[in-house]
Amino acid sequence: MKDYKRILVSAALPYANGPIHIGHLAGCYIPADIYVRYQRAQKRDVKFVGGSDEHGVPITIRAMKEGVSPQQIVDKYHALIKDGFEKIGISFDIYSRTSNPIHHKTAADFFKNLYDKGLFEEKETEQYYDEKAGVFLADRYITGTCPICGNPNAYGDQCEKCGSSLSPEQLIDPRSTLSDAVPVKKWTKHWYFPLQHYEPWLKEWLLEGHKEWKHNVYGQCKSWIDNGLQSRAMTRDSSWGIKVPLPDAEGKVLYVWFDAPIGYISATKELTGLWADYWCSEDTKLVHFIGKDNIVFHCIIFPAMLKAHGNFVLPDNVPANEFLNIEGEKVSTSRNWAVWVHEYVKDFPGCEDVLRYVLCANAPETKDNDFTWKDFQDRNNNELVAIFGNFVNRSLVLIHKLCGGKVPRFHNEIIDADDKQLMDEIRAAKDKVTQSIEEYRFREALYEVIDLSRKGNQYLQKKEPWKKAGVENGQQQIDNCIHLSLQLTANLAILIHPFLPGTADKIRHMLKVVERMLEWKNAGSFKLLSVGYSLRAPELLFRKIEDSEIAAQVEKLRSNAIEAAKDKDQKVAGKTADTTEEWPPLKPRIVYDDFAKMDLRTGKILHAEKVEKADKLLKLEIDLGSEKRTIVSGIALHFNAEDIIGKQVVVVTNLAPRKMRGIESNGMILMAEDKQGRLHFVNTESDIAPGAGVS
Ligand code: 2FM
Ligand code: ZN
Repeated sequence: MKDYKRILVSAALPYANGPIHIGHLAGCYIPADIYVRYQRAQKRDVKFVGGSDEHGVPITIRAMKEGVSPQQIVDKYHALIKDGFEKIGISFDIYSRTSNPIHHKTAADFFKNLYDKGLFEEKETEQYYDEKAGVFLADRYITGTCPICGNPNAYGDQCEKCGSSLSPEQLIDPRSTLSDAVPVKKWTKHWYFPLQHYEPWLKEWLLEGHKEWKHNVYGQCKSWIDNGLQSRAMTRDSSWGIKVPLPDAEGKVLYVWFDAPIGYISATKELTGLWADYWCSEDTKLVHFIGKDNIVFHCIIFPAMLKAHGNFVLPDNVPANEFLNIEGEKVSTSRNWAVWVHEYVKDFPGCEDVLRYVLCANAPETKDNDFTWKDFQDRNNNELVAIFGNFVNRSLVLIHKLCGGKVPRFHNEIIDADDKQLMDEIRAAKDKVTQSIEEYRFREALYEVIDLSRKGNQYLQKKEPWKKAGVENGQQQIDNCIHLSLQLTANLAILIHPFLPGTADKIRHMLKVVERMLEWKNAGSFKLLSVGYSLRAPELLFRKIEDSEIAAQVEKLRSNAIEAAKDKDQKVAGKTADTTEEWPPLKPRIVYDDFAKMDLRTGKILHAEKVEKADKLLKLEIDLGSEKRTIVSGIALHFNAEDIIGKQVVVVTNLAPRKMRGIESNGMILMAEDKQGRLHFVNTESDIAPGAGVS
């Protein structure tokens, strides 16, 4: 491994057109923060840069819809996002914004550098234009009547009713979704960056040189490169953004994905006069933390830009995470299916570390993962409270009960195998946590810390110091057990600190030790607390989270989504359709024989009840005419059990049985999901007796 002098860590710049949710935190900010806090504890020279991404079409559209300026939109969300990060403990060295003058200059100079070297291609193309709103329109922002099925709300790229792919030319009576004006065609010139010229270099630098990158990241890059790279326009027609620094570029701005990653450079400039040490020196280790939707920009486009410019360091790693779903469904800002950070900190004051814990323990490091409120509660109550918190609390209670609140001495002469084993485990845990963090496996690292506290509990349980008073060598045995437990508590504070900084500070407060104790080099030591030192009274690190709090959050998700769907219906009725969400693509074609394997029949719901401790599941009893079946269905967030009794359904009867929460589900009922994410029963037009075949 190369020995770097400095480390520069960036976390993706979130768009300042909405607040951040837990998917953002799990995707990149929590892992970035853990990594940086760990590097600081190692006393390495590390800088952590971030900021708001304040340009791009969605921001201008939002401003237009709300009747305010783009600046007002970004001012509002930049403040909200920054505050959310601070409250959850994301310890940026600088949280900047791309509307800052220093960024405009840095990005414009970068563009000019490439332009002066003749690296852009200039091309004129014809594009749709809204004369009323004064903007060029992407196909999605044009609606009209579908020439195939007559749907009056088809988009310029697709009709969502009949599924046909369309182009804006095919729409009957096309309209701009922004102003309702009839779009016209207009020629426009842009500057394209010929990515294909960098293909041989990318193959060598990335595909050959970075085989150690995470599989999900490397695989995505390989498939992009293998599919052939193309020129991409690096400018747009807009009044909001960084002006293209050329004389013949009136009304043109830099493409948001050209300027945003340069934001990392501008933020470093704003942070330190020594910014070039971080960006222009081979001894810097540059690490970009991002979510998977940003991979191509950080692994292919931005490095190619840096290479074209020259004199810049390239990323050493881009440990991107996959997505975090919520209660089994994709996060959707337009459907308001999200857990918002600014709301979480209000709903669970003092539980910031709990969210950090759950999002790291369940991080989507290698595949998409699911956040459920139940899992949040279980991890808090069964892991943080019952294992980690319990060990620390027991150790501190015992020192006050059995040793007068002062660190007892360790009697080497009676050291036993259990003491030695615990000491070995502490040293081994430090090594494992270190290696896992260095290799960006944060879940694994956190598991090791919790596991170490579990071992502490087992040690106490085995030693039973509370039973030793009055036995031979009793006080010495008590002393040794409490002494080691306290040294372990201090070690746990060091190891948990990158993950749960507030918790580490609480432990430090009880142990009355200075911040310096948390330096990584101290982990594995058994001399962290001096003999005779008196400690503060114990306080609980975590509190139990009650069922009622979880139920309230699940209900909040559900009612937010229902409200958002109502708003959307009103917008559609008012013809200002929200165009941000797309339909899922059609699945690959199947032959009739594939379909004929399914046995579909009509059924009737005879009984429905909630499955205990499973927010999403209903247990249904279905009359299939010839028999009655138990089917467990994931529809509880959409329907109350009592409202669906008697409903007619279509059942897949020959699906292999599956156990869910201990209940065997025998079949599946068909449901349709609409654009707003609401579920509807699939049934026949007329009321038909259960058992009729469906084909
Ligand atoms: O996907 C996003 O939210 C982008 N705003 C991320 C930009 S990251 C970087 F390039 F600034
Ligand atoms: Zn159609």
